[in-house]
Amino acid sequence: MKSRVYVPPMAGVTDLVFRDIVRSIDPNCMMSTEMVSSRALLARPESRIMDLGPNEHPIGIQIFGHEPDVMVHAAQLAEAKGADFVDINMGCPVPKITKGKDGCALMREPELAREIISAVKAAIKIPVTVKFRLGWDDSTRNAVQFGEMAEGAGASMVTVHGRTRQQLYSGEADWHFIAKVKAALSIPVFGNGDVFSPENAATLLEITDCDGVAVARGSLGNPWLIPRITKYLDTGVLEDAPDDIERMRCAYLHCLGLLRYKGPRVGINESRRHLTQYTKGIPGAAPFRNRLTQIASADDAAQILAELALVAAGEEGRKRFLLTVEQNNFKYSEHPGEGHSERESGIQAPVYVGAVAPVAVP
Ligand SMILES: Cc1cc2nc3c(=O)[nH]c(=O)nc-3n(C[C@H](O)[C@H](O)[C@H](O)COP(=O)(O)O)c2cc1C
Repeated sequence: MKSRVYVPPMAGVTDLVFRDIVRSIDPNCMMSTEMVSSRALLARPESRIMDLGPNEHPIGIQIFGHEPDVMVHAAQLAEAKGADFVDINMGCPVPKITKGKDGCALMREPELAREIISAVKAAIKIPVTVKFRLGWDDSTRNAVQFGEMAEGAGASMVTVHGRTRQQLYSGEADWHFIAKVKAALSIPVFGNGDVFSPENAATLLEITDCDGVAVARGSLGNPWLIPRITKYLDTGVLEDAPDDIERMRCAYLHCLGLLRYKGPRVGINESRRHLTQYTKGIPGAAPFRNRLTQIASADDAAQILAELALVAAGEEGRKRFLLTVEQNNFKYSEHPGEGHSERESGIQAPVYVGAVAPVAVP
């Protein structure tokens, strides 16, 4: 794994469509799927959440759970799916997850965590990585010992989010504490938390001496951040962010990708969230964001974004945006139960969502 920039798991975000978009802009970055419940896989081993696109490498599949045998089963399925590595979630702070012994709760159960990592490591040939936080709360910041345990149990790399479970997302990520973990381990350590610009990434690496940086929220509606970070780290050159129309074009293509892959109901629901992310920072976008949270179709999205393009970049901007709409004409079944989606015939393939072929939705 050569990439120093990693888009780590984000539930509800790093699905096939999002990853395809990021990958089309930065083919080399390391990515991971959303977290996958090892328990749920027992009942539904065919779950599409682990589906990987063609040429989607390097890619990890993240699994969560606390029963070693169940985690082994999930890891074996992930390996069979073609993942380059299996990431074990030991950092999720959400009560629904931690109230069992899953996610960050495992930082309070290091012996069980060790058992899980060792069992998974022994059961698959691909590398096992672990993602965790600084600890459960400020009085129990055990990330250094936890990292040492993970390395000893066979982890090939760890990602450390510089917050405790108790902090959730409040306060600032403590990059100095991540530095302690890095200093204690021999395996690669990726630092994570609050990287929203190429300069942030460089500072995190400077402070922590980490081998790479994991960028989650910063990539929402802003997939260009990933190659901009890579370029800045490699050459010191700070590339311009794309202009507003390019962001709107990508937003629309993201929406189409979700509709194709997930069908009209789920696709539109999920698009609402993503579309608003893409318009952050565009002057005058606030009232449009509100409307984007209420779209009922791809046509609605196109209409609202075209109006925003006019405000942001005048008639020329609107025309540029509408060209994307024209070139990616889209229709889907009016019978959501059938979930059939298709592109109009003879239309040019989308720029960013090329790898996401139209599929029947179960
Ligand atoms: C919407 C969302 C979903 C997330 N889902 C996961 C997940 O499934 N597994 C995981 O290990 N971390 C998850 N995270 C945590 C991120 O991977 C990352 O550790 C955290 O957001 C801090 O990095 P950032 O400051 O770059 O966002 C999620 C974060 C967000 C914002």
